Amino acid sequence: MRQVKAVILAAGLGKRMRSALPKVLHPLCGAPMIDWAVRTAADAGSGTPYVVIGRGADEVRAHLGDRALFLEQTEQLGTGHAVMTAREVLSDYPGHVYVLAGDTPLLRGETLRALYQKARDTGADAVALTAAFDDPTGYGRIVRDETGAFQSIVEDKDASPDQKTIKEINASIYCFSAPRLLEALDQITNDNAQGEYYLTDTLAIIKGGGGLIETLCLSDPEEIMGVNDRVQLSAAARIMRRRINESHMREGVTIIDPESTYIDAGVGIGQDTVVYPGNYLEGATTIGASCVLYPGNRIVDSAIGDRVSVQSSVIEDSRVGEGAAIGPAAHLRPKSRIGANVRIGNFVETKKAEIGEGTKVSHLTYVGDAIIGEHTNIGCGVVFVNYDGEKKHLTEVGSHSFVGCNVNLVAPVKVADNTYIAAGSTITDEVEEGDLAIARARQVNKQGWVARRKQNKGENT
Ligand code: UD1
Ligand code: CA
Repeated sequence: MRQVKAVILAAGLGKRMRSALPKVLHPLCGAPMIDWAVRTAADAGSGTPYVVIGRGADEVRAHLGDRALFLEQTEQLGTGHAVMTAREVLSDYPGHVYVLAGDTPLLRGETLRALYQKARDTGADAVALTAAFDDPTGYGRIVRDETGAFQSIVEDKDASPDQKTIKEINASIYCFSAPRLLEALDQITNDNAQGEYYLTDTLAIIKGGGGLIETLCLSDPEEIMGVNDRVQLSAAARIMRRRINESHMREGVTIIDPESTYIDAGVGIGQDTVVYPGNYLEGATTIGASCVLYPGNRIVDSAIGDRVSVQSSVIEDSRVGEGAAIGPAAHLRPKSRIGANVRIGNFVETKKAEIGEGTKVSHLTYVGDAIIGEHTNIGCGVVFVNYDGEKKHLTEVGSHSFVGCNVNLVAPVKVADNTYIAAGSTITDEVEEGDLAIARARQVNKQGWVARRKQNKGENT
């Protein structure tokens, strides 16, 4: 199929979002709305699309970078006015162009391709995407003549009471013959209820000039849901979430309750992994095969190996090796590198920590700025004292070692392989291979002390 250029309109005010953030940068399943439109254009084979920017132009430009070519609309005078910014880049282009809105994130690439196909098959100068809505309020309506042929699009605010009863709405997604579009744009005016230059008027103008307009009515209208406020944003996100979850389920992932499972676009999950409710898998995250994500995890920008279980935990910018068990209630902070078959248990926090294969950190422990070897046991309530109030320091603990309960390892400090550290020790000096370190005051028992104390008290009253 020939390449069809794409123009995405994203310069509008987005007033109804009531936000400091440009509307098209509001995220939907982990990707700003505009990314979905850019992706749709790419899926339709449009290459790098033109994006019309205006409100928040700098932010949108910075976000998209070289994924788009930018056209600047300095004043937002309507959708037709927005497309006029593409006049130069389309002036010598004889082919077709898709025009779509940046606030319609659920649109699929295949739907755009179907518009082009229809233009080719019928020789139409423009094909508009439409849908039948039970409640068409707010949308432009498709006005047809007595033969059912397309006549014009009338905006909700300009519609007569009769026209308002029309259920077929304009999706604001089109495939135009570029030369016909440019000719018609020269003729639109802002003589309407909103005082704007409407793109929708170009269709009646093309028809009036003897051109052919066709429509394509979508059977699945949710695809063209426009996002104008945060209520619609959440409704669109819900649909997107369902799509993402269904695609994982088709690939062999068990999702116990898709309605309460939040997986960003682009997250990868291996076969036979089971995802319980209340999991948030975000950003550039991959989950291996045959994992179990028990309820209540947030996993961000992390790589989890095969056969890992995670429960009620937060994992950020970290790696977890195969067969490891995390949680409940563990917090792996950035740059935690958890080896294979490691156990990170209840109320354990790690940060910038490399933990070797088979090591256990089972209870109530903080491991910050550390390298721990393999098959070492870190007891309950151990603190890696990494911060001196100014700088962070490294603690190294070797393999096959045993760090007793309630030990403080005051960094910088090294503990070699095959060592024992007695419970309650505060370790400030290096522990060498094969040694037992005890760093606490020796216990003193004072015989008969209780009775003597009672006696003393009696004498004093
Ligand atoms: C538009 C259509 C309407 C259709 C509806 C579907 C027009 C006149 N109306 O109405 O028929 O039913 O979409 O969702 O086209 N934009 C600019 N510059 C502007 C104005 C808008 O870039 O000057 C962009 C917006 O950022 C947005 C898109 O164009 O992405 C649509 O604009 P919006 O104001 O949301 O149009 P609607 O009122 O929804
Ligand atoms: Ca809109």
